[in-house]
Amino acid sequence: MSASTAELLLSRIRDVPDYPVEGVVFKDITPLLADPEAFAALTAELAELAERYGATKIVGLEARGFILAAPVAVSAKLGFIPVRKAGKLPGATLKQGYELEYGTAEIEVHAEDLAPGDRVLVIDDVLATGGTAEASLALVRRAGAEVAGVAVLMELGFLGGRARLEPALGGAPLQAL
Ligand code: PRP
Repeated sequence: MSASTAELLLSRIRDVPDYPVEGVVFKDITPLLADPEAFAALTAELAELAERYGATKIVGLEARGFILAAPVAVSAKLGFIPVRKAGKLPGATLKQGYELEYGTAEIEVHAEDLAPGDRVLVIDDVLATGGTAEASLALVRRAGAEVAGVAVLMELGFLGGRARLEPALGGAPLQAL
């Protein structure tokens, strides 16, 4: 990514102090989404990764991951597959649980959407603890598909998500723009 693109993207991410709780600085991507030049530049960067990694399908993680992944799928001419929070998909699903800081969560994918032979690029806005991405990679593999890589806009390095994700990546790249 060029320095000017990196600067543009960074300038459109807003720090919101004490949201959602006191002491947390929330990274708000809505200014980036509202700027067509920045959103297009981000989409182009991610589509370029999809091509470089030889992806044949794009998985987006609910909810903000959908916003970033869908235009990438269109741009790269690849199918878009939603990984949703449990209970939202109408067909037969594969379900994967994972640990949150307090409690557990579950995500799902339509079983028919991924199959052996698929190479999947997983896209999300943020890698924090890595729990969501790790569970999504488990779904990809359980479906028999291959992990082409994981791409996120931001990585909160101090939360250790990259280390947690490493075994699930199985050598596939994790790119934080
Ligand atoms: C956020 C974010 C990632 C996830 C990262 O989703 O969009 O999907 O958390 O956290 P982790 O690495 O610790 O798993 P969240 O479900 O909070 O919100 P959203 O539905 O608005 O995307």
